[in-house]
Amino acid sequence: MRDPAPKTIYLADYTPPAYWVDDVHLTFRLAPSSTRVVSRILFRPNPDAPGPFFLHGEALTTISVRIDGQPVSPTPVEGGIVCDVPDRPFTWEAEVEIDPQANTALEGLYLSGGMYCTQCEAEGFRKITYYPDRPDVMAPFTVRIEGDAPVLLSNGNPSGSGPGWSEWHDPWPKPAYLFALVAGNLVAHRDRFTTRSGRDVELAIWVREGDLHKCAFGMDALKRSMVWDERVYGREYDLDVFNIVAVDDFNMGAMENKGLNIFNASAVLASPDTATDANFERIESIIAHEYFHNWTGNRITCRDWFQLCLKEGLTVFRDQQFSADERSAPVKRIDDVLALRGRQFREDNGPLAHPVRPESFVEINNFYTATVYEKGAELIGMLRRLVGAQAYDRALQLYFERHDGQACTIEDWIAVFEDTTGRDLRQFKRWYSQAGTPRLDVTDSFEDGRYTLHFRQHTPPTPGQPDKDPLVIPVAVGLLAPSGEEVVSTTLLEMTEAEQSFAFDGLSARPVPSLLRGFSAPVILTRSADNAERAFLLAHDTDPFNRWEAGRALAKDALMRMVTDGAAPDAAFIEALGLLLDDDSLDPAFRALALHLPGQDDLAQSLFDAGVTPDPGAIHAACEAMADAMAEVLEQRLATIYDAMQVPGPYSPDASAAGRRALANGALSLLSRRDGAARAATQFAAADNMTQQLAGLAALVRRGRGEDALAAFYDQWRGDRLVLDKWFGLQPGLAQPQDAADVATRLTAHPDFDWKNPNRFRAVLGALAANAAGFHHPSGAAYTLMADWLIRLDPVNPQTAARMTTVFETWRRYDADRQALIADALERIAATPGLSRDTGEMVNRIRGA
Ligand code: ARG
Ligand code: ZN
Repeated sequence: MRDPAPKTIYLADYTPPAYWVDDVHLTFRLAPSSTRVVSRILFRPNPDAPGPFFLHGEALTTISVRIDGQPVSPTPVEGGIVCDVPDRPFTWEAEVEIDPQANTALEGLYLSGGMYCTQCEAEGFRKITYYPDRPDVMAPFTVRIEGDAPVLLSNGNPSGSGPGWSEWHDPWPKPAYLFALVAGNLVAHRDRFTTRSGRDVELAIWVREGDLHKCAFGMDALKRSMVWDERVYGREYDLDVFNIVAVDDFNMGAMENKGLNIFNASAVLASPDTATDANFERIESIIAHEYFHNWTGNRITCRDWFQLCLKEGLTVFRDQQFSADERSAPVKRIDDVLALRGRQFREDNGPLAHPVRPESFVEINNFYTATVYEKGAELIGMLRRLVGAQAYDRALQLYFERHDGQACTIEDWIAVFEDTTGRDLRQFKRWYSQAGTPRLDVTDSFEDGRYTLHFRQHTPPTPGQPDKDPLVIPVAVGLLAPSGEEVVSTTLLEMTEAEQSFAFDGLSARPVPSLLRGFSAPVILTRSADNAERAFLLAHDTDPFNRWEAGRALAKDALMRMVTDGAAPDAAFIEALGLLLDDDSLDPAFRALALHLPGQDDLAQSLFDAGVTPDPGAIHAACEAMADAMAEVLEQRLATIYDAMQVPGPYSPDASAAGRRALANGALSLLSRRDGAARAATQFAAADNMTQQLAGLAALVRRGRGEDALAAFYDQWRGDRLVLDKWFGLQPGLAQPQDAADVATRLTAHPDFDWKNPNRFRAVLGALAANAAGFHHPSGAAYTLMADWLIRLDPVNPQTAARMTTVFETWRRYDADRQALIADALERIAATPGLSRDTGEMVNRIRGA
């Protein structure tokens, strides 16, 4: 099925469809290896874009095709068929056969644990039937499902059912990528919701019988999302039913199919004994994300896949706002920035860098990236900061009014802001087309009561974009007097030039600047701040984000000096951290974040940026030495915190309890360096919830004392896939650098290593890659193991294999020996006969070929 010469698709080549679709009727006769799909589609020529009649189709066995009742013989062409059709509206009827059982790629219609399900975004519908599988073709769908399964679901409202069949009608015109079908032996956790204007909606989360006790939290999150979208965006739900289904085998987190969201089981199922606080939080945000897509994605969709950020950036921004409202806004912002820096900056500063709106692709599935999603969300946040919250709300209302039912572009999006505010946003739009993370250099001066900040921006070259233009950068700034008092509260500076200065008058003494408050733009701020200034901000800044950022900068500086100069752990940093930990006025979740050392991959990038070739082993050793020193110096305080932060009573996943557990478990991890992991062993044995159990287990494993606990954990949880994923992931993730590849190798030979399941595959191989010192151990064993498994997975599931190649995207940072080893691994993958288009594109881009 491999294309002989993979084709590159360009944004600039967009043309409207030659035919519109007015109505779709589908009948499915389900059978595991021979499902029949009968389509009846009303087509109408598009007078504005005459052209040949082409329908996408892939791996379809054609049984029959008719136009207006007369048999026709379409001509197969690359990626589909063409056919002579009348020059007027006509009815297309086709019957095809497909093989869900053989579909291991998990795209189109496939079987997961005996249950039929679909994933059509981005271009999976063409594996179900012949169709113009492009998001600008929108139509109402009626679907009839015939099969043995007790539950037969599709999009929209149920319109009839009987023994062995059901029928569904979705009145809202939608593109094919939002089509969904589920059939299986499922049970429902049910609830209901009444919208603001009085529509009664039946809600259901469909799962296998044994998972019914894991649905309550997801349902609660759904109802809160529905209320929130009404209150904050004025958006109501628009069907009589809203169904969510949990699926074990799924390439991504979840999918917003109209009225029938399909979820990776890991992104919806949770109970206190099986899911951690972090799992609960992730589930809440994904439920919200998919629900919010009903307006930003479904009612208003994308004209073409280059516009993916139109729905994804906006919907991520909306789910971030939701989580900030439901939980702690500052903590949420820090978490989001950690994720952005950890994944998006890494992407933006390597061979896979691409604009938020890419201009070309070979395989669109390779562009569901941190840049499109997370940087895309940052662009929305910047727009909102620039125009103000009220204008943002007005622009969004205009967007919904003007574009409901349409397939839109970033130009449409920008226009609603221009029309609402009268602003010229042409320069802002560069954020959508220019890849790379801008660097913002800052210096300052003080004279006669006037304090001046001098900014210089530049964006390093990225693949295909050697030269960059200046961007509009919103810089939120506050000024603090030497006393610690805030003399200028948060002020938004709008930088538009390559170099620009901003002055503040009437100051009696040189202030300390708090720059880029709340992380007001996705840039790398470079300022040769001294540590005294950072410690001052850590103690006094009124902006919680920057307070955390100051501590982070101190930690990073200390760790980098340990790596480069063999410095000892910085006593002043540890002392400042101790003061912060003791400050009971601070949210425990915030203190827990402050206690976390910067990630080792983050340190590697910072060293590289500073002109030092990072040695992952040395970085690991520095982090260990720092943690040892923190544990030694802060032992008493950590012990007090550990005891004080225990949460009494039955487990609840709420933000405040979760924050206390996060702080206690941060303390536990350090204390385990002092007490022989005694506390961890006790906590592991006594835990009545997964957060506590897993934290105990992790601390034991880190100290090399996890053997018995790992065995006990396995015995306890071998029957629960999602928990077993944690067991598989924890071991390579926490292994010592020299052991990581062996640990992962051993796990891939385990009878429960069901490698065709994406969650299980990622648990082991993803965790290995996330263990920076283990993955980059100079033996190269982890690179070899990774390449072997990617080669094995690629023909089975190209999407997941292609995604996992990003573990190699940072390879140019490292020394010649490591680069040579990675180059071998990449070459070996690239040379694999029959390599998928997905993985082929990724490996070529990573290699810079
Ligand atoms: N639209 C989905 C979401 O954002 C992601 C689905 C992407 N799937 C894919 N195969 N590319 O939740
Ligand atoms: Zn999404």
